Amino acid sequence: MTSDISFSLSAKEIQSDLNTTFLGKEIHVFQELGSTNDLAKELALQGAPSGTAVLANRQTKGRGRMGRPFVSPPGVGIYLSILLRPTLPPFRLPIITLASGVAVAKAIWKVTQLKISLKWPNDLLLKEKKAGGILTEGKIEDNKMSFLVIGIGLNVNTEMSQFPDDLLPLVTSLRIEKGQLCSRVDIVREILRQMEETYLQLETGQEEAILKDWSAISATLGKWIRVSSPTGLMEGLAERVDEKGALILQKKDGETVRVTAGEVTILKDAQ
Ligand code: BTN
Repeated sequence: MTSDISFSLSAKEIQSDLNTTFLGKEIHVFQELGSTNDLAKELALQGAPSGTAVLANRQTKGRGRMGRPFVSPPGVGIYLSILLRPTLPPFRLPIITLASGVAVAKAIWKVTQLKISLKWPNDLLLKEKKAGGILTEGKIEDNKMSFLVIGIGLNVNTEMSQFPDDLLPLVTSLRIEKGQLCSRVDIVREILRQMEETYLQLETGQEEAILKDWSAISATLGKWIRVSSPTGLMEGLAERVDEKGALILQKKDGETVRVTAGEVTILKDAQ
């Protein structure tokens, strides 16, 4: 692993020795954007090819799931959106999101030897604290995915002082956990490689392998959790993810619930 404290990322540097077939062939890097996901969606509507990547050194309106902001200070994080044009039907969307988490976790392990765990659906955790997350957005037309944007946010060299006070107990960065600077370029390059590999696995029907990988690094399965979902609050044991990427929850009263959307809190005390 090389250290980088360079302020800017460069497409040329990322693409050197990338060796992917389509992912990252076109990379757009900006000093500052509102949100890389917004720009990637605009490029998608203008006909940009599948595999196009958008990166910003800083985001002023970085978004997370459930409309939450994603803190994106300059020069220290990875704020990356990848445009895909999947041939898979829209009901496969949740699996693509889980698969992206697996790909990012593998990339981080390869470059830094830090072990990410995944909180359903896609929070990237290090020692139970959030080091990043994934926001998948897209457009479905005539029951087909016209395009998909996988937005990946990672706190790489972020210091505690760069997070707002209310997040301090909940967040971390690769640098904090590793105790040294981590190379954003090396991590971005590896994410692009792993994303391509995982995406091709999905397109060739290897969902089972992806779900197995996801389950192996899950921070959620086997835990008592609380889910805040559009239909309300519930608690139970997170048993497994099904073939469509939904979380299967076993409630205290024995009822099994299939959760397709919501925010998970891992409860410390098993009930
Ligand atoms: C989450 O934690 O809920 C998901 C965070 C996703 C953040 C990334 S940063 C790149 C892309 N652009 C955004 O505005 N959001 C995603």
